[in-house]
Amino acid sequence: MRYDVEKLGEFFAEHPADISLDDIDMARIPRHVSCIMDGNGRWATARGLGRGEGHKAGIVALQDVITACVRLGVDVLSAYAFSTENWNRPQTEVNLLMHLFAKTFVDELPLLKRENVRVEFLGDISVLPKKTREVFEYGLEQTSDHTGMTLALAVNYGARAELARAARLLAKEVAAGHLSPDDIDESAIADHLYTADLPDPELVIRTSGEMRLSNYLLWQVAYAEFYLTDTYWPDFDRWGLLRAIAAFQGRDRRFGGLSAR
Ligand code: FPP
Repeated sequence: MRYDVEKLGEFFAEHPADISLDDIDMARIPRHVSCIMDGNGRWATARGLGRGEGHKAGIVALQDVITACVRLGVDVLSAYAFSTENWNRPQTEVNLLMHLFAKTFVDELPLLKRENVRVEFLGDISVLPKKTREVFEYGLEQTSDHTGMTLALAVNYGARAELARAARLLAKEVAAGHLSPDDIDESAIADHLYTADLPDPELVIRTSGEMRLSNYLLWQVAYAEFYLTDTYWPDFDRWGLLRAIAAFQGRDRRFGGLSAR
């Protein structure tokens, strides 16, 4: 994907001592970067703040990472914002998150438009509270013809639910006589996932020191490289992203074969 050299240099100009654009091979930027944004609550607690403040700070971090990915020419940035299991959190936190999602989305729409970002949702957004759902649907419509980076937000997303849904959709096609069971191969399954039109993530970043997938993109990350950092998500930013990409570029990706080196 294209990137603007001037804007790129400007965005990453004042760099910390340990990382800069010089550490990045622009010819090998991962096409799809995916973030499991974890640690908002702990970030807030560590500062004596309410969890809501952590989520607000997490949104600021996401904004920086979105712009950084656009500047670097990443094709797809996906981010795990709300899982099917997150409904089990206290109702007040669920309500706050839904409110923040709607508010952020309204606030960020001009940026997404300016940067030509197309928005997509992974997960069933039809069951979200009315206001959040309407704002998301408006955002989908407003960015549908954008040709730049795709921002895929996983909201009310769970990989097992996604796979069960794909199985259901395929079974219905078989029952209707449109598909033979023998035609159900890997690409047929991939075509029935929320990510059907997206390349698989090449780099998955998880913050806050946790080392698990938490029911996220189980099918799609088969060959992704994982980058784990102790940094809480609100402290993650463009430089954290560069460190993750530098680590990714240092990996020997074999896809089950032998090293090309
Ligand atoms: C995990 O931290 C973070 C979340 C559950 C929410 C992340 C969402 C955003 C940053 C905003 C996304 C914006 C839009 C518009 C969809 P946690 O609460 O699990 O932290 P903890 O593990 O420290 O408690």
